[in-house]
Amino acid sequence: MLLEVRGLSKSFGGVAANVDISFVVEQGEILGLIGPNGAGKTSLFNSISGEVTPDAGEILLDGRRISGLGPVACAEAGIARTFQVVRSFDSMTVLENVMVGAFARHRTSRAAMAAAGDVLEFCGLAPRAGRPAWSLSPPEKRRLEVARALATQPRLLLLDEMLTGLTPTEAQSGVQLIRDVRARGVTVIMVEHVMEVVLPLVGRAVVLNLGRVLTIGRPEEIVKNPEVIRAYLGDRYVAH
Ligand SMILES: Nc1ncnc2c1ncn2[C@@H]1O[C@H](COP(=O)(O)OP(=O)(O)O)[C@@H](O)[C@H]1O
Ligand SMILES: [Mg+2]
Repeated sequence: MLLEVRGLSKSFGGVAANVDISFVVEQGEILGLIGPNGAGKTSLFNSISGEVTPDAGEILLDGRRISGLGPVACAEAGIARTFQVVRSFDSMTVLENVMVGAFARHRTSRAAMAAAGDVLEFCGLAPRAGRPAWSLSPPEKRRLEVARALATQPRLLLLDEMLTGLTPTEAQSGVQLIRDVRARGVTVIMVEHVMEVVLPLVGRAVVLNLGRVLTIGRPEEIVKNPEVIRAYLGDRYVAH
């Protein structure tokens, strides 16, 4: 088991974003995190990546408590994430953006540049290395988010709606990138709405609703669960 979330709760003012959430993530797994808008998916990522301190509960990476340590310590421990709204530095080049991530593991510019170059190659962005980030297409910007995260050499990668808004063809190439990431030994938790994309990719999914875990299971169980259909799937996905 790589990650364990135990009884995690977090409120913002009167809003209970996460309530008593518990689940585990196995090493090498791709875990889906699904649920309606406002269910608490991004808030949960914020706690796991250290940007937010939970009000209750704890998060363990390899048995070591990481909750409340802050984003730098969580990154050092091996957690990286992408953001639902891309956060690359527009005026910097693609290579420079990825070097920002690489500096988490490398002291010199030369080493960070070499590592960033490898990651760009892996993500299919090498031909764009010298371009300013703003000039990338939307799917390339998503790839750059992934590249920045991978440059920190994570053991666990959190993907927040990385494929949302892409065309089916673009989404399929994003799916291949996620498979390639996992093949490198990186464990993945992905938030995604397009069920046809998520379900074939994940071994299990955690379904959140109103901040709570509604159910955890394999895709074929999830799509048949009446509560999940009522709360989230509706006619979004028809089980075959
Ligand atoms: N920093 C914050 N301040 C205030 N409310 C927040 C904050 N982060 C999340 N929330 C609230 O928590 C709830 C869950 O949000 P979020 O985790 O973004 O859901 P999801 O990603 O599943 O759409 C929402 O009601 C949202 O408004
Ligand atoms: Mg969200």
